[in-house]
Amino acid sequence: MTSGTHIPTTDLWSQWLLYGRFADDAQFRQAVRVMVDRYVERLLNGAPPAPGQTVVDVGAGDGLVAFRAIERAGPTLKVWLTDISEPMLHHAEAQAVERAVRNQCTFLQRPADRLEGIADASVDLVVTRSVLAYVADKTAALREFHRVLKPGGRISVAEPVYQDDALAAAAIRSSIDCTPPEHRNALTTLVHRWKAAQYPDTEEKILKSPIANYSERDMIRFAQVAGFTELHLELHIDILPSIVRSWNVFINSSPHPLAPPLSVIMTEQFAPEERQLFERSMRPIVEDPKAVSTDRMLYLTARKQPA
Ligand SMILES: C[S@@+](CC[C@H](N)C(=O)[O-])C[C@H]1O[C@@H](n2cnc3c(N)ncnc32)[C@H](O)[C@@H]1O
Repeated sequence: MTSGTHIPTTDLWSQWLLYGRFADDAQFRQAVRVMVDRYVERLLNGAPPAPGQTVVDVGAGDGLVAFRAIERAGPTLKVWLTDISEPMLHHAEAQAVERAVRNQCTFLQRPADRLEGIADASVDLVVTRSVLAYVADKTAALREFHRVLKPGGRISVAEPVYQDDALAAAAIRSSIDCTPPEHRNALTTLVHRWKAAQYPDTEEKILKSPIANYSERDMIRFAQVAGFTELHLELHIDILPSIVRSWNVFINSSPHPLAPPLSVIMTEQFAPEERQLFERSMRPIVEDPKAVSTDRMLYLTARKQPA
């Protein structure tokens, strides 16, 4: 990859991908890995890479999708790993060396909507997982995917849908705003402070937020506007036993890279007695063996018009 003399060792993205999402807990790290592997398999099943092809993994992060594509298609697959995060590209490059696949990989520091360096109509497949969620102009990114694809080439996209989380935060806010201060429920206001620190909680903020201002239906429209054909979208809603098994993991993990963990929110925004109330009320819910968590993920595949 190309880099200047100063290489940042960490940034918001690497902090979350390499540490924040695992809450410093080995068992939880393993559970997150299993969950993410499932997403990656679904993503690649949507448009399986084939030997001899060239693939772009946009927002490659630690290279999970790219390396799995190489495992599936073998030593003749070529992969571009692009990302805006220089620390993540360096991390992925080190992983490629460790896996002895460095010669199949090219690393490129670019935003998803400006893939300069990748020629027009030069790749067979563009894959991306949990990246467009952070891109303000998703149609521009999809147009860029369309530009680099050969005629007949495909995209496979997997993105979280956080709109419901944001709408839930907004609903709690509205209910508090409608209640006279003397009748407000103390726990509800704390739950609102927690949710509002992780998701936009007003209609205005939701509309401006790249992570919350789209639904799965918007995503398929963006891809259509970008010029894709043969579009197929599936929304997967999984309500599964929660992988968060302890209070410690609950307060130290965060649901996405832009969300502070609850431990930070509690320190910065809760008074000591509020922390006690919150833990007393929430801990039994979190540590209940029957606790579930809801996960909304969209899977989109589409094709560039064949020549
Ligand atoms: C949630 S991580 C997902 C990483 C990887 N795709 C995976 O499946 O594990 C989001 C990744 O997108 C990258 N990213 C964020 N905004 C981006 C943008 N505008 N263009 C390209 N990459 C971006 C981050 O640096 C990070 O590596």
